[in-house]
Amino acid sequence: MVTGGGDCPGLNAVIRAIVKRASKEKDWEVVGSIEAYNGILREPTEIMILDDAAVSGIHIRGGTIIGTTNKGGPFAWPVKLPDGTWGEADRSDEMLRKLQYLGIDAVISIGGEGSQRISQMLYEKGCNIIGVPKTIDNDLSATDVTFGFQTSVQVATEAVDKLVTTAASHNRVFILEVMGRYAGWIALNAAIAGGAEVCLIPEIEYDINKVLDKVNSRFSRDRGFAIIVVAEGARPKGGEFATNSIDQVVGYNNLKLAGAAARLKQELTMAGCKYDIRETVLGHLQRGGVPVAYDRVLATQFGVKAFEMVLEGKFGRMVNYRHPNVGSVSLLEAIEQYNFVKPDDALVTAARGVGISFGD
Ligand code: F6P
Repeated sequence: MVTGGGDCPGLNAVIRAIVKRASKEKDWEVVGSIEAYNGILREPTEIMILDDAAVSGIHIRGGTIIGTTNKGGPFAWPVKLPDGTWGEADRSDEMLRKLQYLGIDAVISIGGEGSQRISQMLYEKGCNIIGVPKTIDNDLSATDVTFGFQTSVQVATEAVDKLVTTAASHNRVFILEVMGRYAGWIALNAAIAGGAEVCLIPEIEYDINKVLDKVNSRFSRDRGFAIIVVAEGARPKGGEFATNSIDQVVGYNNLKLAGAAARLKQELTMAGCKYDIRETVLGHLQRGGVPVAYDRVLATQFGVKAFEMVLEGKFGRMVNYRHPNVGSVSLLEAIEQYNFVKPDDALVTAARGVGISFGD
């Protein structure tokens, strides 16, 4: 098995579930490739035998015991060119030969949209592969929910709770920047659960004057406070995503989002906000640490299902959850569409119902 892309609370619970389910069958041995496919592609090979002892108790641990990477991959291996610049090499054929040489009968790839695109390409080349969806962003449309998401919502909500007490004590405006890439699910859930005044998400572009109106409505004779939850992918009407060019590195194909909170603070100040504004960027705290119970349960269900799909030979498919069932969809279907917040989503309606402004 491989874990690819950004880490996510619940990965170890999936690994443990696959190994435990496999150990109930005769003749199966499970190995993990270190740092996604890098372990297979490197010389010497870096793989880890995953038996009951190796996975004992890991379901409560964050991260992944076999490591991960969100750079490169078998189809885009970073190589230094003679002129010193970086290029990409397709090492997929070599990797498939190596898998055969190692006697690997099936691959379970636990990863998000990018990893499942690689799964589909490997499947088309004849690899017996099964996908398990993973992302804190919850932006995969082929499954109702992904493990890791609830943990990050919990972390973000606790951050809102903490900011409320300090904001109220100082009559301040607090901006909390949360992850989610181009989807606003973490921001939306944390804003509702934490009782924020404003929630800015990528799917609804904001008007800074509307945001300021809401902030002002929360103060009376300079007393009051306001909490704004801003998704890292939020942007003003007609504006660009906030990004940080320093973070763009070789082999990393995603745009690195950063700076939404800092930009918002500046915009609020320019628009005439007279209150003290502070910003907090929650960052990778949302991805680390112990997964909440919900994520451990879902991850365990996904792991068991993935191994059963190996036994049934259901390759080229990804495990999914459609309430109340764990099932599967073709990898092609899995990578077809993202799951973004729709402006008329029930959660948006509920948020508006309790007075949360989206700045629109
Ligand atoms: O996709 C998960 C995620 O945590 C996003 O929410 C975020 O934009 C990105 O990964 C951060 O990536 P990195 O760990 O490379 O900084």
